Amino acid sequence: MSQPDFDFFRSGFPALKEKVYLSICDKMILHDAVRENIDVFLDKLAMASANRVDHEEKVCSARARFARLMGVDAATVAAVKNVSDGINSVAWAVPMAEGDNVVVTAEAEHPNNVYPWLRVGKRGVEVRIVPAKPTGEIDVTAMIAAIDKRTRIVSCASVTFAPGHRTDIARLGEACRKRDVFLLVDGVQSAGILAHELVDENIDGFATSTSKGLLGLYGFGFLYVSSRWIERLEPAYLSRPAVSMDTEDHSSMGGFDYVLQPDSRRFELGSYNLAGAYAADKSLELLLGLGKKVIEKRVLELAALLHDGLSSLDLSPAVPRQGARQSHIITVGALDAGGHGFSTDPHITQISARLAEDDVIHTVRRGQLRFAVHAYNNVSDIEQVLSCVKTAIA
Ligand SMILES: Cc1ncc(COP(=O)(O)O)c(C=O)c1O
Repeated sequence: MSQPDFDFFRSGFPALKEKVYLSICDKMILHDAVRENIDVFLDKLAMASANRVDHEEKVCSARARFARLMGVDAATVAAVKNVSDGINSVAWAVPMAEGDNVVVTAEAEHPNNVYPWLRVGKRGVEVRIVPAKPTGEIDVTAMIAAIDKRTRIVSCASVTFAPGHRTDIARLGEACRKRDVFLLVDGVQSAGILAHELVDENIDGFATSTSKGLLGLYGFGFLYVSSRWIERLEPAYLSRPAVSMDTEDHSSMGGFDYVLQPDSRRFELGSYNLAGAYAADKSLELLLGLGKKVIEKRVLELAALLHDGLSSLDLSPAVPRQGARQSHIITVGALDAGGHGFSTDPHITQISARLAEDDVIHTVRRGQLRFAVHAYNNVSDIEQVLSCVKTAIA
């Protein structure tokens, strides 16, 4: 993949003409081509020319493109709302009896990968909360040690929202596979940015929204469920898309003795977020055009550059500069010295204020200054951030 392809990709983001955007871990920015595809949908609505078949083709195409990006079969992917939808769908579909348990690292997870388990806990399922490492990283060894004969699900983030370590999913997956435990991954921080091969990683379920690295909209996402599990999973909610029928008549009802879709569509509920599907279909086309391995290589190189620059300013990033735990997220400052959008460290507050003044879009999470790189970023972005940080601490 040649460099000009990245330049062309970058040129489609209006925000980047005015700002340095290092906040994909918070939310997406819109590419012109994605916006145009949403407009196609809106124009159809405006002109009363909306057609269900055209719309559903977009949903199918978006599903298929997401599947390609993840190296899986399209039938294993459901169009859902967001991470919470995907996680709750699995939480209520995996057969569990009183006394069974689920394993999760609550302190390293986004609340949307904790509350679903607390709710399931009310059914008499034990929620085994494993401590994170002192660095804030998910402790895969401890998670594996927490698994026993009654463990049904292990749930974890592919990359934590803060401090941003990449989890050793493949190792956790191998341990889960040996014990027939469902490994569920909250993949929203890595999807579209780091290269996944869900089958090789032994992932059984992968939930994401398109509102971050997939560069789509809020309220649309995907749930991958391995075909190994699908026949064992009965969704908690049911409506027509999840039922297998041999008619195309969308208002007809099958028998009361319904049969579930044989694949992941059994997790789809009612009408789709079509604006989200049009957006995702286009953004996935762009991402596939660049290539997932090429994207990962680029973001990790830029992240390493940012890491080096911050380290040279005596701001040690919390995440490793290289190796298997490196991700596209770079955080600085003491973990939990503050919270969502604020730090109790005046140093961090001062740097953050300066970055905001210079239109360097970043976030503060768990009290840390947080940056995240995507394929549209370039060396000049990193240089600008570093120059701004240097001025702030001078
Ligand atoms: C790791 C992680 N999981 C989940 C979410 C959001 O979940 P949902 O898509 O259900 O809103 C975020 C959003 O910041 C996140 O960082």
